[in-house]
Order: sequence, then C-alpha cells, then structure tokens
Amino acid sequence: MKILVTGGLGFIGSHTIIELIKNNHEVIIADNLINSKIEVLDKLCQITGIKPAFYQIDVTDEEKLTEIFENNKIDGVIHFAGLKSVGESVSKPLEYYYNNLVSTMVLSKVCIKYGVQKFVFSSSATVYGDQPSPLREDMELKKTTNPYGETKAMSERILTDTVNANKDFAVSLLRYFNPVGAHESGLLGEDPNGIPNNLMPFVSKVAKGQLKKLSIFGDDYETVDGTGVRDYIHVVDLAKGHVKAIEKLDSGVNIYNLGTGRGTSVLELINAFMKVNAVDVPYEIVGRRPGDIATCYADADKAEKELNWKAELGIEEMVRDAWKFEQQNV
Ligand code: WQD
Repeated sequence: MKILVTGGLGFIGSHTIIELIKNNHEVIIADNLINSKIEVLDKLCQITGIKPAFYQIDVTDEEKLTEIFENNKIDGVIHFAGLKSVGESVSKPLEYYYNNLVSTMVLSKVCIKYGVQKFVFSSSATVYGDQPSPLREDMELKKTTNPYGETKAMSERILTDTVNANKDFAVSLLRYFNPVGAHESGLLGEDPNGIPNNLMPFVSKVAKGQLKKLSIFGDDYETVDGTGVRDYIHVVDLAKGHVKAIEKLDSGVNIYNLGTGRGTSVLELINAFMKVNAVDVPYEIVGRRPGDIATCYADADKAEKELNWKAELGIEEMVRDAWKFEQQNV
C-alpha cells in the first residue's frame, strides 16, 4: 500500500516508516519539522536504502495537504503529527488544541474527499485518566489531567463520529503507553529538543554527563518501591504494531492498547540502565510531579488477539538501545 505518514520524521513516525518499508509498503512523509530534524530523512535512506517522498508542510494546511493527495494515490494514512509535551500543553493550551485537533480534522476531511479509507491515529494511554491498571480498551475514559491528553481524547471522539457518518471510512485508535528505546543501528532514537521531560531520554543524558543528575519525582507512591510504575514499550515493537494495524484495518472504529502489559518502576528502570550499560546514573528523590499518577500499564490482550501483535522486546533491550543511540547521537 501507499501510506502517508504525518510526523514521519519524528521519534515514533521514523521507526514506523522503517517497518512499513520492510513490509514492502510505499511511504510518503508530511512533516513541518517543528519537533523533528530533516537529517532523519537521510538516516531512513541509510537504514532502508529507500528515500521516501517528503513534503515539508503543516497538516493543518488544507491546501498543501490536498496537493499531496492530488499527486499521489494514497491507500492509507498514519497520523503522528502533533504537539506532545504534557507540561507544555498546560502553559500553551490554545496551541495544542488548535494544532492537534485541526490537523486531525483537516486530514480526515481530505481523506474522505479522496476516498482514502484507512486512518490510523496516534493516541495515548493518557486518555484513560487516573484509574486502576491494567487498562482495557472498553473502559470508560476519565478526564485527563492536561490539555495534551484532552486533545487525544477529543481526536478519538472526532474520528469516531466521522466513521459513524462515513461508512467507507475506517479508523484504528492506537493508545501508546511509554515508548522508549531506539533503532538497533543507533542512527535513530528519541532526540527531544532541550531538557527532556520524559524519563528515558533524561536518564540517557545523565549517563552521558550532559545532565548532572536525575530527580526522581516521588518515592511515596503505593508501588513496589514507592516510585512511579509505567508500561515501557520498545519503539520498534510500537512501530510494528502500526504496520499490523493498518494492514488489518477494514471498517469501523478499532481501539488498541500498544503496551507490554507489564509495569516497571522508575528505580527498576534506572537500575536496569546502569546494569546493562555498566554506567552510573546519579539521582536524588524529590517531590512528586503535579499530574503524575502512581501506576499505569496496559491490558495488551486485544491487540494480540485481533492484530496478531505482541511486544517482544524487554527492558534490557530498551535501555541498551536507548544508550547506544545516546552515545552515537552527538
Ligand atoms: C515516567 C515516570 C515520572 C522524568 C508521558 C505522557 C504520555 C506519553 C509518555 C505521549 C513517571 C518519572 C520522569 C524525570 C522522573 N507521552 N520521572 N523523573 O509521564 O508516564 O507519560 O510521556 O503520548 O502521554 O503523559 O512519562 O517519562 O515523563 O515519566 O522520576 O525526570 O518517570 O514521575 O513516574 P509519563 P515520563
């Protein structure tokens, strides 16, 4: 199939493109480079031997997006493009609502106009809000704790209503847990601008000496060791889940958790990182981060049953690959 990947030069998008090409799909990339680097395009070519068509556009720009659909017979889209910092969304809500919702609406509208029936959406476990794990797709969603999470929940509703009104339009909503790790080549990985918000890239930069030490946000949660528990999933496993989702998508609204089904605490992850990579990660325990929840991990059965997909890589591979990328990514 010919697949349009929005946000395709980003962390998860770029890894998904590798898996799409490995499965003999043709890929077109639309990315505005607001949170990604053009150098990733050459790295994709280095890894796959193929340089996908690239359009530097903002997905909210209907005219520019229409040109892509005019010039390419597209069979499906995977929509990654969006702003994704929880913290930033609290201080810039309008930017987040506009960018994340308008891009989803414009892309859906153009898909329907051009008869593109398969739409895979990058959603997030954040839509579950604070409720007991393991989290299941049939659970009622609770209000999220930030505008970023609200944009994901609202986008899911927009896409669901659009499917209900257009019987030939089919959607897969993929709820990610905590994507980490990097491509085995060390050429691609999580490369956030500035000081990382997320745990793994922060740990990597402390191990490298770029940051002094890690602050662990609280050790008084009701968890195995008091620190936060999350369902970390290797980005390559996550990418493979997207290929399965778009290949299997044929009708209606399909919701899948993309997680491992296992929880790992902050201290367990840090200890694995130090042990596997034989490096030191200095840290100190500080107060809780506002908005954090104690525990979040997936019930991953539905994707296994319906997509024949299951995460295969464990914490050891995640910390190994994250560190290899950090060392090579000067
Ligand atoms: C993980 C754990 C922190 C940093 C967020 C978004 C979610 C998704 C993934 C997009 C928590 C602790 C972290 C640090 C720490 N993003 N931590 N010190 O908050 O689970 O999820 O990113 O879809 O939507 O909400 O990820 O990596 O920030 O935190 O102690 O410097 O690490 O308290 O327990 P989170 P995270």
